Amino acid sequence: MKNLPFKKHSLLFAPMEGVTDGPYRLAISRAFSEWDYFSTDFYRVPTVGNIQEKAILKHYGHGALEKKSLRDKTSYQILTSARAQTKPVVDIINAQGFEHLDLNLGCPSKKVNAHRGGAFLLSDIETLKPIIKTIRESFDRIFTVKIRIGYRDDKLFFDLLKMFEDEGVDAITLHARTRDQLYQGTADWEYIKKAVKACSIPIIGNGDIWTVEDIVRIFDECDPYAIMMGRGALKTPWLATTYYEHRNNPDFLSEEFLLEERRRGLDIYFYELEKEYRKENVEDINILKRFKSFSRYLFDDFPDHETVRGRFLRSTSLNEFKAHLHDLV
Ligand SMILES: Cc1cc2nc3c(=O)[nH]c(=O)nc-3n(C[C@H](O)[C@H](O)[C@H](O)COP(=O)(O)O)c2cc1C
Repeated sequence: MKNLPFKKHSLLFAPMEGVTDGPYRLAISRAFSEWDYFSTDFYRVPTVGNIQEKAILKHYGHGALEKKSLRDKTSYQILTSARAQTKPVVDIINAQGFEHLDLNLGCPSKKVNAHRGGAFLLSDIETLKPIIKTIRESFDRIFTVKIRIGYRDDKLFFDLLKMFEDEGVDAITLHARTRDQLYQGTADWEYIKKAVKACSIPIIGNGDIWTVEDIVRIFDECDPYAIMMGRGALKTPWLATTYYEHRNNPDFLSEEFLLEERRRGLDIYFYELEKEYRKENVEDINILKRFKSFSRYLFDDFPDHETVRGRFLRSTSLNEFKAHLHDLV
């Protein structure tokens, strides 16, 4: 079994389309260096047309590409289908020396699924297996899959796990919902527990991990090798910092401490993001758009969160947004 590029009990920042591009990952890795690992969002393997090496590298983000320490802790995610040109794309990712390739098998988008990609493939092992074989044969280093518990239901859950293991996949990230559940209800961590028991390869638990208490609980109850956080990481980008501080000093999680963490966290989050976007020459108006989209995930824990969030969302300039931030922190 290959060694994964992150240690046991690591905290992984989930891939998120529209969020975790190169500049975002760079900013987070600097602002909150306690996150152990990152992923690109998915690069969609083209079905027709030439494969452009440049486009594959651009997806990673050129600033992020140059930073070896970040590259060593970032997986490259692809999304593909039986008809798409998987092999030439994987050949390029392999030749470029990326250490870790991840296959997205969890995307619930109607458009992606109608093209028989993303989570759709979980419903069709016959079609999925040759894709897994192709990637495994073409990629020399760590190859993982990111899955849900099934497409419509869980009936292929154990067959899928076994197939991945038999085909030499190095680890499985499991978002504990079916595709049809989208983001409804709460992720059922029982499936993470079951996967850990059923598999000899590492399982990375994912789905509805929001707080330090959740992190402690999922490790205790389900024993995953590591965990991945998506919306929880957007809501509290400093969560990894708080978690490690809590681990070193379990009595330290007072209300006062959390408020201070939040104050510092918000300040440094937007500061580092703006710095990275400026390096990429993103215009103020587009920085503002991104900041607003991140605001949708923040501020839930303020007593008057609707008002607070509304103020940020109604900002008409980046300066106004920053003034609101200044007032808040
Ligand atoms: C805005 C957004 C974009 C996402 N994009 C991706 C993606 O590109 N690749 C992927 O594997 N999962 C993607 N996901 C799913 C997350 O990685 C994660 O599996 C899911 O949100 C469940 O974890 P959570 O409950 O911690 O959010 C996305 C989720 C969100 C909210």
